[in-house]
Amino acid sequence: MKITVNVWRQKNASVAGEMVAYPLDDVSEDMSFLEMLDVLNEQLTIEGHDPVAFDHDCREGICGSCGVVINGIPHGPEVTTTCQLHMRSFSDGDVLDIEPWRAGAFPVVKDLVVDRGSFDRIIQAGGYITAPTGSAPEANATPVPKDNADHAFEAATCIGCGACVAACPNGSAMLFTAAKITHLGLLPQGQAERDSRVLGMVEQHDAEGFGGCTNIGECTAACPKGIPLDVISQLNRDLLGALTKQTIG
Ligand code: SF4
Ligand code: FES
Repeated sequence: MKITVNVWRQKNASVAGEMVAYPLDDVSEDMSFLEMLDVLNEQLTIEGHDPVAFDHDCREGICGSCGVVINGIPHGPEVTTTCQLHMRSFSDGDVLDIEPWRAGAFPVVKDLVVDRGSFDRIIQAGGYITAPTGSAPEANATPVPKDNADHAFEAATCIGCGACVAACPNGSAMLFTAAKITHLGLLPQGQAERDSRVLGMVEQHDAEGFGGCTNIGECTAACPKGIPLDVISQLNRDLLGALTKQTIG
């Protein structure tokens, strides 16, 4: 296939960026999207130009490192991560606009790479448990209702990619934050810090400059792991409970 990619090029956060067009003449439909970018970078390097910076690690849809906006859609036209997207999803002659996540809380580092340290700081504000680990506990010593185990597992599949933020008109990270709160809050081991977790993580979410949730739902539509909107309802229930206890206490 012959395709043209319009790629966002930006040296760093303090200079303006621009879209630059690159024609590619021999793109196989079996290439992954990132392999197509690898081919572009090989071409740029041979020509003596600066290769396009983009984030990636596992290339298996599990680490959450990759992620670009393709023709206006975070992770592109399929419900998957950018690394699991293949060029067979596009056609000969296509023109693809490739941009970084656009959000004030995700400043551009270079080209398609953004700084998602804000997600790390939200996790540091409560996305953990403090139960002593010791040796491996007997699996049936702590019974977990099946529904809770299933929902906790579903929420735990969030890979922290940030597509939900890029898709949200408010630049909200509520789906990500709520997935972490739901994952830990539904398990017995997560009860000790349940209130401090939701208070701390929501406070950090807001301090990082992410917007509020107005139930638009673009986040869940863009999420490669299908994290459902009802995790945000769980977050709101937990937050209300924690604030009520704080007020009464
Ligand atoms: S909720 Fe979905 S889109 Fe958001 S960070 Fe987690 S996996 Fe990515
Ligand atoms: S590179 Fe790990 S999820 Fe895409």
